[in-house]
Amino acid sequence: MQTQDELEALVRAVQSSAKYRMVSVDLIRSIGARELLARGSLRDAIKACKSKLHQVGAAYMPARAQYERWEQSLRAAAGDQTALRSACRQVLAQHASTRERLPIVEAIFQRTLVELAPVESVLDVACGLNPLAAPWMPLAPAARYDACDIYADMVAFIRHCLPLMGLSGDVAVRDVTDGLPERPPADVALLLKAVPCLEQIDKGCVPRILDSLPTRHIVVSYPVRSLGGADRRMVDNYAAHMRSLLQGRNWLCQRFDFDTELVFLLEKPARPSGTAEATLKQGAS
Ligand SMILES: C[S@@+](CC[C@H](N)C(=O)[O-])C[C@H]1O[C@@H](n2cnc3c(N)ncnc32)[C@H](O)[C@@H]1O
Repeated sequence: MQTQDELEALVRAVQSSAKYRMVSVDLIRSIGARELLARGSLRDAIKACKSKLHQVGAAYMPARAQYERWEQSLRAAAGDQTALRSACRQVLAQHASTRERLPIVEAIFQRTLVELAPVESVLDVACGLNPLAAPWMPLAPAARYDACDIYADMVAFIRHCLPLMGLSGDVAVRDVTDGLPERPPADVALLLKAVPCLEQIDKGCVPRILDSLPTRHIVVSYPVRSLGGADRRMVDNYAAHMRSLLQGRNWLCQRFDFDTELVFLLEKPARPSGTAEATLKQGAS
C-alpha cells in the first residue's frame, strides 16, 4: 500500500538526478504513483519511474543542452532569414527527433500545411525542439505559436526564441496525458512523433487528446525509421494505428509518406455531426 510519504520520497529521489530535475513534477508524480502500486518496493518504483521517463523524454534530449548559447545564436541571427534558418538548424540537430526530421524539414511542413497557408496559429503538443522549425512552416507574419512539453528548461528556451523568430505565443510545461494547457483555438495542432511516447504513459490518452484539441486540423506523425531507412512494418503498424483512432470519427484524413516519418493531416467536421467512418485519402508523398 503506497503512502503519500513514499510518493514524495520517490519524487525527491527522481528529481535528485540531473537527468530528470527539469521534468514536470506532475508527470513524475503520476508515473511514480502507478509504479508504487505495481512494484514491491520504493527502490523498484524509483527505478521503473526513471526508466519510463527515459523512454518518453530523456532518450531524445541533447546530452548537454546549451540553451543560453543557442539563444545567443538565434538572437544574433534574428531578422536575417538565412542566418536564422542556419541557427535554428543547428539547434534542431541537438534533439534526436528533430535531427531525424532535418532532411525533410522543408517538405514536411510545406506539403502537409499547404492547404492551410498562411497559418495564423499553431498548437505544438509534446513539442520537443520542433518550434524551431517554424522558419520552414508556411506561417503568416507574427503568427501565434503555442507549445508544451515536459522539460521546464527546454520550454523556457523556446519561449525566449519565439519573438526572435517573429512569432508570438506561449510555451508551457505540461503532462498532456493529464489534459492540455488552456489555449485559444488555433488553425492547426501538431502532434509529431509523440503518440508512441504518450501511449507508454497512458494507453488510452491519444483519442482523448485528439478530441480535446481546440483546432479543426491536426497533423499527427509517427516515426518510421529503423537502421537502414524506413521500416515497412513500422509504416504498416502505424497506418493501422491511425485507422483505429479514426474509427467512429467522421474526420477527413490525408496521408503523406516521408522517408523518416509517416504523417496524417486530420480535419474535424466544422460542426459535430453523425459518426460515419473517416475518409482516408492518399496525399502527396
Ligand atoms: C519523440 S519526441 C517528439 C518531439 C517533437 N514533437 C518532434 O516531433 O520533434 C517526444 C516528445 O514528447 C515529449 N513528452 C513525453 N511525454 C510527454 C507528456 N506526458 N506530455 C507532454 N510531452 C511529453 C518528450 O519530452 C519529447 O519532447
